[in-house]
Amino acid sequence: MSNVRPDSMARITTPELAEKFIEEQIAEVRAQVGDKKVLLALSGGVDSSVVAALLIKAIGKQLVCVHVNHGLMRKGESEQVIEVFQNQLDANLIYIDATDRFLDLLAGVSEPEKKRKIIGGEFIKVFDEEASKLEGISFLAQGTIYPDILESDGVKAHHNVGGLPEDMQFELVEPVKLLYKDEVRVVGKALGLPASMVDRQPFPGPGLGVRCLGAITRDRLNALREADAILREEFDNAKLNETVWQYFIAVPDFKSVGVKDSKRYEGWPAIIRAVNTTDAMSATIEEIPYEILHKITARITAEVDGINRVLYDLTPKPIGTIEWE
Ligand code: XMP
Repeated sequence: MSNVRPDSMARITTPELAEKFIEEQIAEVRAQVGDKKVLLALSGGVDSSVVAALLIKAIGKQLVCVHVNHGLMRKGESEQVIEVFQNQLDANLIYIDATDRFLDLLAGVSEPEKKRKIIGGEFIKVFDEEASKLEGISFLAQGTIYPDILESDGVKAHHNVGGLPEDMQFELVEPVKLLYKDEVRVVGKALGLPASMVDRQPFPGPGLGVRCLGAITRDRLNALREADAILREEFDNAKLNETVWQYFIAVPDFKSVGVKDSKRYEGWPAIIRAVNTTDAMSATIEEIPYEILHKITARITAEVDGINRVLYDLTPKPIGTIEWE
């Protein structure tokens, strides 16, 4: 398969077209791989999840998935990867909880680019270590999609934490590399992946590491994770997940005075960011009903240890980037 999408290739918009694509790819992957083994870094994001489901269908246990939990996942994410791939799809899945390795290295590091470098570098190290323990792997599967190829000299290149070492001696298997994101989602649904996995919002490779501002501490990271889970739940309940492109919480590393149970209560603020965009280059702020903002505020301040204020970020991009960091 070349790296250029032919003009004649119809956009995959229906389950029927997705089925046809899946059948073609299964044949192609089987022809490429034969009886050899394929390794895949499965983050739980849309692209790697769809590649995993497709390859499980094509080659079953010849696929070895490695899921590295860097400790910066959102609430329930690694659990969902295990539930869907190990329990439901019976995948050959190696789960590595590397939380301590990452958080120990990140302790005391406050500079954003340094944090990104540490997370990216350690990810490669952990993955490499696992890969070298495995025998007989000949191929590396990747969830490359067409915009990645188009933008490979552009913005996203430095973004991709999941990027793997260039000296890895594997031939690549990239079954969705000519698809756009919306097509990957249609294929994912046709493969039976849950909507919560296929329709998920973009999530940066360094995960909550870019939203736990300044030097990451475990208590503040936990507060961020819990607050983010509440935000997502309430956006789902209000069906805002269908109209808002990306929404999350960021927690800065300073405290302010508050009052709880008639006592002084110092806590961090939770900052809500909810934006709409088509290409992430610019972004607008949606009107979120006040009623929902009040409910989210009440829940976060009541349920999350360490948070005593909730703020709503009204800044479009530009001037604000989407992520804080
Ligand atoms: P910014 O903050 O630059 O973000 O306005 C634009 C979009 O990119 C996402 N983002 C990332 N995506 N790896 C990714 O795959 C990353 O390291 C990364 N950093 C930011 C961000 O969430 C937003 O959707």
